[in-house]
Parts: sequence; C-alpha cells; structure tokens
Amino acid sequence: MKLDVWFSPIGVGPADVQGRTIFVIDVLRATTAMCAALYHGARALIPVASTEEALRLAQTIGSADVLLAGEKKCVRIPGFALGNSPLEMTEHAVKGKTIVVTTTNGTKALLAAQGAAAVYVAGAVNLTAAGERAREALEQRRDVVILCSGRDRAFGLDDAYCAGRLAVEALGGRKPRKGLNDAALASLDLVRRYGDNWERPLSYSRAGRELVRLGFGADVLDAARLDAYPVLPHFHERRVTLAPQLQSQPAPPQPQPQPL
Ligand code: MLT
Repeated sequence: MKLDVWFSPIGVGPADVQGRTIFVIDVLRATTAMCAALYHGARALIPVASTEEALRLAQTIGSADVLLAGEKKCVRIPGFALGNSPLEMTEHAVKGKTIVVTTTNGTKALLAAQGAAAVYVAGAVNLTAAGERAREALEQRRDVVILCSGRDRAFGLDDAYCAGRLAVEALGGRKPRKGLNDAALASLDLVRRYGDNWERPLSYSRAGRELVRLGFGADVLDAARLDAYPVLPHFHERRVTLAPQLQSQPAPPQPQPQPL
C-alpha cells in the first residue's frame, strides 16, 4: 500500500502520475465548484490552462450549451458567464451545460494529473464519496496520490487539511507505519490539530482569508460543508464528469520472486 500527499502540483509531470490513482484537491474553490456543478446537473467540465484557451475551445465547440467559467485573482474573468464560486453553480445556471473552466491553481493541478491511471476531484463537499474510492484503490494495491493545488505555487493549509481528512477516509481506521510519505503524515497531523472542524483550517488559510477579504466568505462556508455535493467527479479524456461505478479491476502485477 502506498499513499502519498503532494502539497503542490509544481514539478509534477507525466512520469510522476503514470499508473497512479490521483485525487486532486482545490477546496477553495475549484474542486468544490466542480462538485457543485456536477451535483446540479452540469454535463461536464473541461479544465484548460488559460483564458485564451478557454475562449478558443468554447468557440470551437460553438454550442449554446457551453459556458465559460473561471477566475483571475479569485474574481470572475470578464466576459465569462460564471466565476469560480460553488454558489454560482446552481441547477438553473448549469443543468445540461458543458463548462469550460480555467482557474489559477485548481485547473493546473488537474492538468498536471493527466495521464494517471485515474484522476478524481475531491473536497469537503464530497469527502465520503472520494474517500470510499480512495479506500477501494488502496485495497486493490494501487498507488494513491492526494494532489493539493496549493496557493500560488506553495503549500495551502486548506488543501493540506483536506488531504489529511481524505487520507483518514482512505485508510479506514488503519494506522499503517509504512507506505505514507512525510506530507501524508503531516496532513494527518493537521487533522489531529483541527479535528472535525472544517471551518477553522479553511478560514485560517491564506486562500480563505483572501476570499473573505474579497467578499466571498459565503464560499468558504459552502466549501466547508461536509458531503454537501455528494458526487464523485473524475477527469478522463480532458473532461470532468461523474465517475462510473468501479468495475472490479485486476490488481497490478506483483513482482515474482526470482529463483536463486
Ligand atoms: C484556484 O484555482 O486558484 C482557486 O480555486 C482560486 C479561487 O478561489 O477562485
């Protein structure tokens, strides 16, 4: 069993993610907003790296059912239909829509995870669903990575605490001595420090304080609502959609002992 937490996607490339099952977290707010959108009936989200790419892709798809969403410095990009607030992802706004989305950190982390064996989207709002899938992956002896988006190329307390909560769910009460990297151990320590209280680490984090200062305090509270949007999004073939039920997959081959 191997469960790693990575506190930032910086430097993560295809060779790092290959063969792994990855859970991407940007609890404030990109992955929370994605869960809200799919929960309220969006067909898919397509994460892209820049405003220009979002505009190009929306034009290429050229359908009335496509919406642009995203932020720069937390504020909706001019001309886009939606920002990055989970509270904007209402049924009225998103049902049946495909959302092309670009954000400062969250979509970059998702794109860095491309090429992994499986990529899921996680936050407080879907913790139980994500945790169950992570536990199944560990039971199937898959290498699991919890990839935090962080803040501006650095550690973010909000994501790190969420990583710890997801690790607790994934371990399902086990306390392994081996198989966790140091970041996973540190994220479990954060859970011991903050306990069950999502609001404290989220509002103490730099991301949380910045959002409150900009008038998005309600988003921080929404992102702290455990299992509020109980869906399991996965990122596959460039789209984030609801994950299919897990088929029981064969475990990856184990090295055979060589005769002496
Ligand atoms: C990001 O991707 O950096 C964040 O989700 C920013 C935000 O809160 O809008």
